Amino acid sequence: MSNIAIYLALLLGLLGQAGSGAPAGKSSSLDYDYFKTKVQPIFLAKRTGHARCISCHVVPTGAVFQLQRLSPGETTWNDEESRKNFEAVTKLIALPGNPKSPLLIHPLAEDAGGDFFHNGGKHFNSQNDPEWKTLKAWIMGQTGSTQARN
Ligand code: HEC
Repeated sequence: MSNIAIYLALLLGLLGQAGSGAPAGKSSSLDYDYFKTKVQPIFLAKRTGHARCISCHVVPTGAVFQLQRLSPGETTWNDEESRKNFEAVTKLIALPGNPKSPLLIHPLAEDAGGDFFHNGGKHFNSQNDPEWKTLKAWIMGQTGSTQARN
């Protein structure tokens, strides 16, 4: 088995485990306003040396993590599209209260606590990265559109 096959098996195992362990409806504890105002901009931001998350993770080809396509001429999502993004992201990759959520460890450098391979690159080199901290704050239950607690 190639490394990638092993990796995918591990990721699927992780997702499966998370799915079976989580009580139904738990994703509702993740906050929509915080997602819309703080988390979504991270999916749109350009980082040196990387394509934007939205470049790859877009319906219908975005692997498990799929975002809505931006409407022509728009630079962000409207409320309806944001709701769909929220549904998609909270279903499998952002597990409430779980610091090992794929959304956290997949784009994080391995030596900073991330997993070893993400086809889209390691966008965050440290857990002190402000964008990464925003993702983590959201998954750990941050609400509203105020600044993340540290
Ligand atoms: C160059 C294309 C590309 C970019 C840019 C990219 N990704 Fe990915 N990502 C992939 C591919 C392909 C996979 C599936 C294979 C793998 O896991 O590496 C993936 C997998 C994932 C997964 C695991 C769930 C899944 O859909 O398989 C997460 C979570 C993820 N990416 C998050 C991100 C985040 C967050 C960003 C932006 C910070 C990002 N990705 C940017 C290509 C990309």
